[in-house]
Amino acid sequence: MQATASVRAQFLQARPACRPAARRSAVQPVRAAAAQGEMVDDMGFKLMRKGVKVAAKETILSPRFYTTDFDEVDEIFNLEKNPNLPMEELTAMLEEFRRDYNQKHFVRNEGFHEAADAIQGDMRKIFIEFLERSCTAEFSGFLLYKELGRRLQKSNPVVAEIFTLLARDEARHAGFINKALSDFNLALDLGFLTKNRTYTFFKPKFIIYATYLSEKIGYWRYISMYRHLQRNPDNQLYPMFEYFENWCQDENRHGDFLTAVLKARPELLKGLEARLWSRFFCLSVYITMYLNDHQRSKFYEALGLNTTQFNRHVILETNNATARIFPEVPDVEAPGFWPAMDRMVQYNEKIVEIGNSEAPEFLKKVQQAFYIERIIAECFQLFVGPMVRSGSFDIEGAGSYQY
Ligand SMILES: [Fe+2]
Ligand SMILES: [Fe+2]
Repeated sequence: MQATASVRAQFLQARPACRPAARRSAVQPVRAAAAQGEMVDDMGFKLMRKGVKVAAKETILSPRFYTTDFDEVDEIFNLEKNPNLPMEELTAMLEEFRRDYNQKHFVRNEGFHEAADAIQGDMRKIFIEFLERSCTAEFSGFLLYKELGRRLQKSNPVVAEIFTLLARDEARHAGFINKALSDFNLALDLGFLTKNRTYTFFKPKFIIYATYLSEKIGYWRYISMYRHLQRNPDNQLYPMFEYFENWCQDENRHGDFLTAVLKARPELLKGLEARLWSRFFCLSVYITMYLNDHQRSKFYEALGLNTTQFNRHVILETNNATARIFPEVPDVEAPGFWPAMDRMVQYNEKIVEIGNSEAPEFLKKVQQAFYIERIIAECFQLFVGPMVRSGSFDIEGAGSYQY
């Protein structure tokens, strides 16, 4: 993998001569950008205050915070209104979550600081961006689960406690990553983000599809990175990745809980509407990850991963897992699937390139509109493209499989 070797060589060259001593002095000199009175560090990151990074600008591809109609959630889980909820299974799950298998897992070892100091140059910036995105995604899960746990306390205490324990796990994950950011002399003000970030509203059923997928894809991302780095220890640039094996089991358990929730609501798993939403959410999650990761290929290459292969593997595995529960999933092995995904990567590269150009803003928007339209057209083609009928529900009858 030559590209990988050259990227690694580039940033290894950029290591400071004297690392341990460099760390304390490497607290980024903060300078005031005189014109706007903004503080920026020496990598160009805007700071809210010393050591606290201003969150990256939100885009259509960035991790979001979600909110939902909590009264409707209450209707879904209310024990009086839903006597058929599989409470035996959910109570057994609650027992599992209470065991808290990873209670002692997230204890940092001594290698974090030194490893962070060794990551310099462009790669340092890319690493920080990766950590910020991951932290925001984990924290987003925490906020949503915490609120669900709070709102369901009266109507379904078992499900409420499970959501609260999911929030416990996500808070741990987000906190661990934020601590990692502090190895790079930066951190996110999560309290400030909670109050100031835009919340995207999704109806409860969409929240269930989307969180199921994000947990499962999260599991496959973490475990695939972990296994790759175990096979290639030279690429283990930062100790955080060593924690991914147990970490991803949290995500897997979260996904299994959401599987139980989906099964408890058969209307989410059968019928034309359910199939169309399954299709939509699978494609949205796969496309978002594919474009995001290709926009940051250097990061994956530095870990010795081929971004395209890594992404395809994660999507294939997630799709296989999802096919066990969703009524329909995209046929990711159909001949046109990956070429369409790759074309979208190229269009997205153009959009980023135009965004970084010196052209006036209105001209950038016009130029970008062409490629945005191309991406929308590709998405539509995939949406109406080949699908695989799947799921564990047999309720639509044998005839429904003949099409
Ligand atoms: Fe997590
Ligand atoms: Fe999770």
